[in-house]
Amino acid sequence: MAIAVWSSRFATGIPLVDAQHQSLFQAVNRLAESFREGNAASQVKESLDFLVGYTQEHFQTEERFMREMDYPELAEHMGEHARLMERVHGLQMSQAEGRPVTVDVAIFLADWLRDHIHGSDLAYVRFMKEGAQK
Ligand SMILES: [Fe+2]
Repeated sequence: MAIAVWSSRFATGIPLVDAQHQSLFQAVNRLAESFREGNAASQVKESLDFLVGYTQEHFQTEERFMREMDYPELAEHMGEHARLMERVHGLQMSQAEGRPVTVDVAIFLADWLRDHIHGSDLAYVRFMKEGAQK
């Protein structure tokens, strides 16, 4: 069973962002499956590395959008992104040092994604829509 299920309550209405969010949910599910199947550490590493790289790319997309619309909460939102990246880079480092990451990582990422999209991402979407109405 997938631990991260995308639904319309996460929809931003921005096709590129929604497509990236859906891919992120899939990447989290792939990571979770790599633990569940008892896969080799190399497979967990591969899923985690992909997820981290894709998340970075996605954050850049969002930050570009927010910059373009002069979003007043940009710094705060970027801070949330940066704190997550710090955390996942820490996990990658632990793994590289031979301390295995566990399925809790996938659960944490699924929770983080849901909260972040539903809270902070939809907040910039509201700002964008209000601006478009003026
Ligand atoms: Fe975001």
